[in-house]
Amino acid sequence: MIALIPAAGSGSRMVSVTPKQYLDLAGKPLIWHTLSALVKVAELDRIVVVISPEDEWWGSFDWSEFKRLDVLRCGGASRAESVLNGLHALQGPDDWVLVHDAARPCLDPALVSQMIAELANHPVGGILAVPVADTLKLAQAGQHIAHTHPRDGLWQAQTPQMFRVVQLAHALAIGMGPDITDEASALEKLGLQPKLIMGSPWNLKVTYPQDLRLAELILAAAAR
Ligand code: C5P
Repeated sequence: MIALIPAAGSGSRMVSVTPKQYLDLAGKPLIWHTLSALVKVAELDRIVVVISPEDEWWGSFDWSEFKRLDVLRCGGASRAESVLNGLHALQGPDDWVLVHDAARPCLDPALVSQMIAELANHPVGGILAVPVADTLKLAQAGQHIAHTHPRDGLWQAQTPQMFRVVQLAHALAIGMGPDITDEASALEKLGLQPKLIMGSPWNLKVTYPQDLRLAELILAAAAR
């Protein structure tokens, strides 16, 4: 199976010129940790990273320790475009693809193997996710609460997200738009129902500057 890693974002919410996937995390670029987790997943034959055509950072690091790794300079204007461009560039007979954000460096490889086993015979595919724990408020103008949204049945999507290459490329191509913020949303637009697989609160997406410190603590705890 192939893992496709969208890594073409600019990380505007990190307030940093360097895209977040290259920021220092425990002495390595953040994406190094993501790749390090994925190479431990025995079911993955190949890991393909999609970076921006204008990327100036990838070439400044040595990635030779990662075998089965390819990089494609075909990132697009949105995450969905980066994934779709990456899927078009994939060659080979692979049925499934596992899409994982470069910005989730604390992934547990064992969770990925579990997910692959659980979805092997699923007609659609699925995603890692965790049930929403907090009470949810809908905000109206002036940052006042319009109402409390029931959290029953609500899950927070994570990655990896695992789908069939051909079906995902089709769904992204016809569904492309600002509402497609993950792979599952493109499949849902076709009326399909991806499976929710219990993820982990440790599978943090680094989005804001303070997340780097959290990610460092999670990685340190996992190494113990
Ligand atoms: O910005 P966000 O945190 O949602 O990005 C999730 C992942 O998608 C990151 O790994 C980021 O590099 C990637 N991305 C991309 N192409 C874009 C925007 C984001 O590959 N145009």
